[in-house]
Amino acid sequence: MTEETQSVMKRLRESTRDLHDAAEHHDFQRAFAQGSLPRDRYVGYLGQMYLVHKALEGQLRNAAESSEAIRSVVDERQYQVPYLVEDLEFFDVDPDSIEPLPGTRRVVDEINQMASEPASLLGLHYVLEGSNNGSRFIARGLMSAYGLTPGPGLRYLDPYGDEQRERWLAFRATMDEVGFSQEDSDRLLEAARHMFQSIVDISDDLLAEAVS
Ligand code: HEM
Repeated sequence: MTEETQSVMKRLRESTRDLHDAAEHHDFQRAFAQGSLPRDRYVGYLGQMYLVHKALEGQLRNAAESSEAIRSVVDERQYQVPYLVEDLEFFDVDPDSIEPLPGTRRVVDEINQMASEPASLLGLHYVLEGSNNGSRFIARGLMSAYGLTPGPGLRYLDPYGDEQRERWLAFRATMDEVGFSQEDSDRLLEAARHMFQSIVDISDDLLAEAVS
């Protein structure tokens, strides 16, 4: 097997495992998963993720016009901005009023710098799309913690419901079918590592805000 024909998804998973573990074990994410995060911190997190997704999805939509890879991997339902808007409105937050925390500002700048690199944008997108795997479990815990029911308020954490597994497998398959060059595969990986680190940074910012 040449390097080019190795599964890009296998490479992504293996080379970001350390960062996934760091993200998963971050105090913020742990409190989140245990349902012990105050509700306003959860809403704060949704606000920051709204800004991240808005920037990334805007660039993905633009780049899709000239990138077949983006067109074949990303479908409309993967765009999370509508789910985030629905959740924020449920919590009476005006999406236009959200101020970026430092980590969010940095990742938005990075996203915009990658505007003309489809593989990098897909590397960023991989992390957020993949995070739905764990978020679905977190959503279940938050139902009892915050007295929520499936739907508005929890849409972002569980956008696909019972189709989660099927959609993740389809995402993996289409990514592997693209046949990324070695250079693009390197870009994917680098961008994915940046996005994981950014989530850790944003989680740090949200924790710092909570204690200040
Ligand atoms: C408490 C927090 C978390 C838990 C419990 C969790 C759990 C999981 C689980 C169980 C999977 C495996 C899905 C499967 O292949 O069957 C997964 C995959 C994944 N998660 Fe998380 N996760 C957490 C946080 C995060 C965060 C914060 C991110 C990044 C924003 C993230 C990104 C990903 C990605 C990209 C994958 C796909 C890995 C692959 O390529 O197969 N996760 N997570």
